[in-house]
Amino acid sequence: MYSSSSVSKFVILIHVFAMQLLLINSELLLNTTNAYLNHKCVVSKGKYKPGSAYEKQLNLTIKNFYSDSGNKEGFTLLGGDGFSAILQCRGDSYGPKCRDCYATAVAGLSRRCPLYKARIIWYDQCLVSFDTAYSTGQIDYDNIFCMSNAKKVGERDRPAFISTTNNFMDNLTILATRVHNNQEFAPLYAVGKTRFKGDMLYGMVQCTKDIPDKACEECLVFNSIHFQECLTAKRGARFMGRSCTYRFEFYPFIAKQIQNI
Ligand SMILES: *[C@@H]1O[C@H](CO)[C@@H](O)[C@H](O)[C@H]1NC(C)=O
Ligand SMILES: *[C@@H]1O[C@H](CO)[C@@H](O)[C@H](O)[C@H]1NC(C)=O
Ligand SMILES: *[C@@H]1O[C@H](CO)[C@@H](O)[C@H](O)[C@H]1NC(C)=O
Repeated sequence: MYSSSSVSKFVILIHVFAMQLLLINSELLLNTTNAYLNHKCVVSKGKYKPGSAYEKQLNLTIKNFYSDSGNKEGFTLLGGDGFSAILQCRGDSYGPKCRDCYATAVAGLSRRCPLYKARIIWYDQCLVSFDTAYSTGQIDYDNIFCMSNAKKVGERDRPAFISTTNNFMDNLTILATRVHNNQEFAPLYAVGKTRFKGDMLYGMVQCTKDIPDKACEECLVFNSIHFQECLTAKRGARFMGRSCTYRFEFYPFIAKQIQNI
């Protein structure tokens, strides 16, 4: 004979077990790695001296940005004469996730580009840039790069795949750069998915929030042409820049894409 209490314990145990499975599963799926991607120490802009006014300004900015980095925008900007700074987190990384990425990025920068006045670092979930000039508000065409899966889709599928990815990119760009209902600004961020043959293809575009929507579109179009070789027919690729980024993969890499499955 089972008492009702042991039955409910059994039920609770199953419940807990199911929850754990769910958690493990979503962790695997979420794939929320925050991989280091790239950095640039801008040698031409020189180094600052320890104890200098530049270092003081930098330290203050780093501290202020840290307080701001947990905001729901996932974006912080300082544009000044002789000094500018930007933190842009990926659209699904705001709050604590953005702050974590920011802390990692600042540590990464001081290790990889010690004392450089101008430097940029990219991670999966954020980019951080410090510069000597007022470099925000305009498209940065210099600090860009592209990474892609070494594998291409099968030769027979290529024409259809290229047409799908081009179309997908255009759709995401439109979504990111148009002002939607009741919104004041274009989101400058869009995620989506589309089917290719039997597989699901996941995509994302994003621009840093210091540039207007027209510039966002220009940045995305420029880079997709510039990096055509790197992007075309690949089983996953992305370009990144100081101003905009595009990525597509055959697996979900954004929290929202997983929720939608
Ligand atoms: C997680 O991401 C890596 C590359 O960033 C990819 O190779 C891997 O397949 C992904 N795993 C899942 C479960 O999506
Ligand atoms: C800036 O911060 C670094 C690291 O915390 C510290 O070593 C340095 O003395 C600080 N400089 C100034 C001018 O406050
Ligand atoms: C692009 O958007 C159009 C119109 O909404 C849609 O019909 C098409 O399937 C989309 N294509 C891709 C690849 O996302």
